[in-house]
Amino acid sequence: MSAPFDVARLRADFPILAERPYGKPLVYLDNGASAQKPRVVIDRMVHAYEHEYSNVHRGLHYLANAATEAFEGAREKVRFFLNAASSDEIVFTRSATEAINLAAASLGQSIGEGDEIVLSIMEHHSNIVPWHFLRERKGAVIKWVGVDDDGNFRFDEYERALSKRTKIVAVTHMSNVLGTVPPVKEIIRAAHAHGALALIDGSQGAVHLDVDVRDLDADFYAFTGHKVYGPTGIGALYGKKRLLEAMPPFNGGGEMIETVTMDSVTYNAPPHRFEAGTPPIVQAIGLGAALDYMLEVGRDNIRAHENALRDHAHERLGAMNSIRILGKAPEKGAIVSFEMKGAHAHDVATVIDRSGVAVRAGTHCAMPLLARFGATSTCRASFAMYNTLEEVDALAEALARAEALFS
Ligand SMILES: Cc1ncc(COP(=O)(O)O)c(C=O)c1O
Repeated sequence: MSAPFDVARLRADFPILAERPYGKPLVYLDNGASAQKPRVVIDRMVHAYEHEYSNVHRGLHYLANAATEAFEGAREKVRFFLNAASSDEIVFTRSATEAINLAAASLGQSIGEGDEIVLSIMEHHSNIVPWHFLRERKGAVIKWVGVDDDGNFRFDEYERALSKRTKIVAVTHMSNVLGTVPPVKEIIRAAHAHGALALIDGSQGAVHLDVDVRDLDADFYAFTGHKVYGPTGIGALYGKKRLLEAMPPFNGGGEMIETVTMDSVTYNAPPHRFEAGTPPIVQAIGLGAALDYMLEVGRDNIRAHENALRDHAHERLGAMNSIRILGKAPEKGAIVSFEMKGAHAHDVATVIDRSGVAVRAGTHCAMPLLARFGATSTCRASFAMYNTLEEVDALAEALARAEALFS
């Protein structure tokens, strides 16, 4: 059982929230890009460097064993977080980007000319470009599934996009621009019915939603540590064991081999087959601490609080004539993207920054999606467990001042 949700108490866990940009309280609403870190994560990493640090797996000494135990312990924490069946199904990567590149490059070796890959238009470039590589290099065909004007996933288009030639479906668990949560379980089921594999980009989903890879029946699930309150430089790819076992390696180097001779090489079993070289040891340990922290706060608590922030943001921003919110799907997480009439998103973000309000502005690495909405850039407020309703008000008030400036 997690403790009752107390945002004031929680904020005290995040040292950086005491910063005062331009002498103003920090209102950090750029969590979709990267979340801040609680003291327990920072302390856990310092502890690892001070008391448990060595390279992993290869040593027979005390510190090598301590580091290996902590590193492999973190893998088990990721397994638990995703509800995977085995920690052998958890491959540590540098990021979600690397996780998806790994899957695409490895699966791509058996992709041929005319094989089809189905993507949604709301994918982050991380879940587009690796598939473009297969289009460019292997002659694969990318089929796109659109969204309606509210940002809902067009399941009808998806069903039409699937065919005998579909090999892979790669879809986000939650859009980093619209906040839309597509029906991934149904998406996966339909992919499987066509004999295709399904990869879910959980970079935002793992932050805001429950994840149960077995219930989803996902073949692959990628996520990234720095958005779930962990450090940068660490992510993970979940893959079903039988699939990973059949897949060729991604990078070559130490640890991923079984034997190397002058004219042959055999490969280690997963997950190590996909973890060439020295892994991000302390980052993985920090990620483990971040996931423990999220579970302690309680994912239901976090989601309920964040959804209240999203609703309040919709209400406040929706009441402003100059603001257009992109993404009003009923299934939507705590991300609110918007445009201000007559003002460039960069200018809006720069002006409200002076009030201490941090939002992201730009294309959010989702150019096809922005083109769909006829936008070249938007501002994005993305919420975390430590944000408050008062901060949403501070955003609205800063935007009202910007509006007055630009009108
Ligand atoms: C939906 C989505 N996918 C992938 C990524 C890439 O994450 P990373 O840069 O940590 O690899 C992001 C980051 O913004 C994202 O929001």
